[in-house]
Amino acid sequence: MDSIAILDFGSQYAQVIARRVREAQVYCELFPWDAPMEEILSIAPKGFILSGGPSSVYEQNAPYVQEFIFKTGLPILGICYGMQAMTHALGGEVAASTQREYGYAEIEAATSNSLVAGLSKVWMSHGDRITRLPEGFITLARSGNSPFAAMGDMKRKYFGVQFHPEVHHTPNGEKLLKHFAVEVCGVKANWNPHSIIDDAVEKIRKQVGYERVLAAVSGGVDSSVAAALVHKAIGDQLVAVFVDTGLLRKNEGEQVASAFRNNLHSELITVNASDEFFSALAGVTEPEQKRRIVGEKFIRVFEAQAKQVGQPKFLVQGTIYPDVVESSAPDRNKAQKIKSHHNVGGLPEDMQFELVEPLRYLFKDEVRAVGEALGLPESLVWRQPFPGPGLTVRCLGEVTPERVSRLRAADAILIEELSKAGYLGKRSKTSQAFVVLLPVRSVGVMGDQRTYQEAAAIRAVTTDDFMTADWARLPDTLLAKVSSRIVNEVDGINRVVYDITSKPPATIEWE
Ligand code: XMP
Repeated sequence: MDSIAILDFGSQYAQVIARRVREAQVYCELFPWDAPMEEILSIAPKGFILSGGPSSVYEQNAPYVQEFIFKTGLPILGICYGMQAMTHALGGEVAASTQREYGYAEIEAATSNSLVAGLSKVWMSHGDRITRLPEGFITLARSGNSPFAAMGDMKRKYFGVQFHPEVHHTPNGEKLLKHFAVEVCGVKANWNPHSIIDDAVEKIRKQVGYERVLAAVSGGVDSSVAAALVHKAIGDQLVAVFVDTGLLRKNEGEQVASAFRNNLHSELITVNASDEFFSALAGVTEPEQKRRIVGEKFIRVFEAQAKQVGQPKFLVQGTIYPDVVESSAPDRNKAQKIKSHHNVGGLPEDMQFELVEPLRYLFKDEVRAVGEALGLPESLVWRQPFPGPGLTVRCLGEVTPERVSRLRAADAILIEELSKAGYLGKRSKTSQAFVVLLPVRSVGVMGDQRTYQEAAAIRAVTTDDFMTADWARLPDTLLAKVSSRIVNEVDGINRVVYDITSKPPATIEWE
């Protein structure tokens, strides 16, 4: 597979560059700027993109372009800091500056060239800038503030841009990235759901041979698509297991099982373990403790099931690329732990499995496209994210079967009304919406009777990456309908509130 290597110099946009390149149907991978040569060259890239970054080339220990990159003789595109690092390495001059240029800028082409063709408004975010080009380079574009907004060495095929072509604020920026990959580097743009599937199927077959493979399916998009891919590769060698924790949304188990049966023609073993989960959770109200209990219990139930089916050697994991990148990116591991996230199917460390991770290099939207191409139903592929610990983190206070079923009923009403009105699903702007049951009782009046019951909160957010989020501006008529249906139809809830906090300072889930 033709590919491009993207070197991350610490930019907040490095993943976005990879997204844009993939959208151009070009396979690429992200590496820290100082990754070992063998690792970077193992994907046999046909060119390099150097990302931006917060440093100045003159700082002590500033990231630099490793020598072997130039020695490969392959094309290079430096973006912002990447351009400065390349300039510095090749003998040009970078002026340190204390003032940032941040925001929109107009550029104009300095010579006719196809790299910046079609670009005029661009997004700038830099401090330092280039004051003298390295030998062999010419100016390709300039802006009011940057005499060298774009530069190129046509012979060596080295290019640099001071602006950020990867962000949406640079209209047509994605064309520059595509032009670099396809025209300059000569990469074939054939990375699409079908080639991804073919590639994955071949790799899975090679990895597992005739061994049996176990998969834990949670109902989430990633674990379902991963299992579906493995099933496509090895058919009945796959044993897919769905653990019903009793903490799932309405009809979740049936929907997943029928998608497997009807769309993939594969059986799904369902293990009903809800009693075990509820008794482990009895009396517990502390959020982190609840998460731990569900995580551990899941592992134990899954272990027992693995034994029952003869302890397969391989285990499917729905790890996706952002998870991989987050755990290997420079300095990105230091974030404070806010919540211990756990994925159903999370790795039991003492279990002797070899992992099969067919989505390891895919972004979320690629996973969805693959899911659709494999024939999984839209309702499964476009499902909103659901936390591993399930409804426990939305059932504030004690988790009892009664309270969970109350929560589940209210949640189902919200989901039904939002989906009907087009506010959830494939083409909607709301990324996630759910009900939270609060351990708070308040007084109400229903049919002349005093009530003293629990309150429920509606949480609905818009977000691109779930790292930050805004509360969804749902129409008041829709909220009114949901509220009145919940209070009328769900026993034990007499009040509904709407959560109008963004993330940060709040998180999306309440626990
Ligand atoms: P927060 O609440 O941290 O959630 O703003 C961000 C996103 O992650 C989901 N989430 C989880 N997903 N295991 C998961 O697989 C977990 O333990 C977990 N906790 C939160 C949450 O639903 C939101 O989409």
